[in-house]
Amino acid sequence: MADLRTRISTQKRTLLSGTVVVCGAGRLRCRGRLEVSSGTISAYGTQWETQYAAGAHVPRLPWRKLSRAEASALWRQRPLRSGSALGLIEVFEADEAEALRRRFERAVQANDGTLLEQCRRSVLTSVATSVRYSGELTSHGFTVDPPGLPAVSYDVARSEYVGLHIDTWARVALKDRQRSPIRLCLNLGPESRFFLFLNLSANELTDAVDPESRKMAKDNANLLLRSFFQEFPDYPVGKLLVKPGEAYMAPTENVAHDGYSLNQNIGAMHIAFRGNFEWRGGPALAAKGGRFAATGEGCVV
Ligand SMILES: [Fe+2]
Repeated sequence: MADLRTRISTQKRTLLSGTVVVCGAGRLRCRGRLEVSSGTISAYGTQWETQYAAGAHVPRLPWRKLSRAEASALWRQRPLRSGSALGLIEVFEADEAEALRRRFERAVQANDGTLLEQCRRSVLTSVATSVRYSGELTSHGFTVDPPGLPAVSYDVARSEYVGLHIDTWARVALKDRQRSPIRLCLNLGPESRFFLFLNLSANELTDAVDPESRKMAKDNANLLLRSFFQEFPDYPVGKLLVKPGEAYMAPTENVAHDGYSLNQNIGAMHIAFRGNFEWRGGPALAAKGGRFAATGEGCVV
């Protein structure tokens, strides 16, 4: 088989089989969950250009349904190891999610640390029937995204949206990103929300880009990603629908991603954690339990 770089170059608009897949389990099905973009576009030159960082990329419209081959490349009806698989998990019924959101809102408004901790514990207890975690767990708090944007992650320090990106919290070398912490994010809003992702891991991006760009990027995941977008603007981005009360689990330090709110009436409301999450019943880590540290309630990249 041709190498990845050659395959992407020749198939252009088609999503290829990468190492990154979406795992649903139980009642969850692929149908109606996934679409792909027509590629990516620089935010510069769009109606949002003043809001985004220089070099930021967002999905290019229109969205389309998956071909049969793309669906089979993207979806697995079973748990897989979390390092390169996105997990979709049913956690709460919609009315339970709404009740919990109201408690979070009360806690944030009143700056009530005890109630916030209770809310976080409610989430972790409910999630624990599907996943487990080991080691330290970090809370990214309760966040409300703005509606009407093609990528919602915001750099508070620079006051700009960053576009599709790879997280760098753990400062792990590119070649080891499949062992990075996992982000678990629960949709507490009344609307479905959308998670964007590229189905190629950091190692696959390294293989795909021009060797000169690879050399220039060194170990910088987001320089590598920008080179990929510039070289392959027609390569599709996946968009996963996450309903109220559902969570996604994603290796966001190994996979390019963002939230998407263009078709939302109100911003997505969610709570997120970062840690070594694995499915129960899957090829999971052996450890159980762990410590838990909060990092505040701000909007984070
Ligand atoms: Fe991120």
